[in-house]
Amino acid sequence: MSESNNYLLGRGIFHSVRLDAQHLLWRLHTGYILHPRIPVTDHMRIAELGTGTGVWLFEAAKYLPPTIQLDGFDISDEQFPLKEQCPPNLRFDIMDSFVDPPATLVGQYDVVHLRMWATNFRNRDSGSVLHHVMELLKPGGFIQWEEADLTHQVVVGEKAKQFEAEMNQLFGQVGLDFSWVPNLPKRVKQVGFHLVEFDRQQFQNNLINVCTNTYLLALHEILQGLRQSCPREEIVEHGIALHHLLSAERRSIIYNWCPTVLLCQSPPTDVISISE
Ligand SMILES: C[S@@+](CC[C@H](N)C(=O)[O-])C[C@H]1O[C@@H](n2cnc3c(N)ncnc32)[C@H](O)[C@@H]1O
Repeated sequence: MSESNNYLLGRGIFHSVRLDAQHLLWRLHTGYILHPRIPVTDHMRIAELGTGTGVWLFEAAKYLPPTIQLDGFDISDEQFPLKEQCPPNLRFDIMDSFVDPPATLVGQYDVVHLRMWATNFRNRDSGSVLHHVMELLKPGGFIQWEEADLTHQVVVGEKAKQFEAEMNQLFGQVGLDFSWVPNLPKRVKQVGFHLVEFDRQQFQNNLINVCTNTYLLALHEILQGLRQSCPREEIVEHGIALHHLLSAERRSIIYNWCPTVLLCQSPPTDVISISE
């Protein structure tokens, strides 16, 4: 297993359950697995980068034709399912999406799916992943990217707002800058993609609690992940405030990020402009 990364979230059983709950959140929010503007054709190839537990691909395998090849990649195989649990058209492999993909995968995919990369870009820019995706895609292939926009949040409750301000300050201190999410449309065009759609919404009433619960648990994971980079007292202090939100305050607060969907296409020919 490759572990050459500084991933802030966990990969244990609690963390896997949170990822799967977030899948439900996205699924109920968008109502689709594959974006409806992507044409489904027999024998197409779909890759998911940073696949985690592979929950999105498992659902894709259930609803898409079995002739479609589904490949899940991640820098770590810790959350991958066992091979025996996968249908014949679904496979998982280790791959770092911040570097060039192996030559055997170049130009092989009709669709590349990414979701919830927010904390993967610590002190990094989205450009290297976009170049990686550009290499994987066939001409005219699609990126479907579903992301949490932490720069646009819906936060209700005085204590929750106070915690939000403190977390924003902490994120700045440790090199977590989430502005790459609202900047994605500009960035994809710079890399040479054609932007088809970029849409930011808020969760409807039925999903507000699912987002608050999963987001607060993710913040707990992030605080644990930052123990190496921050003074202990600071982490303990934020941890106490978070625990308060998760218990005494929980029923009177809302703590949501805004769900953002990006759909774009690689150029129809092999001519790709790489203007930074
Ligand atoms: C928050 S999880 C999201 C998992 C999945 N996309 C989902 O929505 O359920 C982020 C994933 O990105 C993976 N990741 C982090 N850095 C990566 C890299 N450089 N290349 C590939 N995957 C990476 C992590 O291991 C983790 O599985």
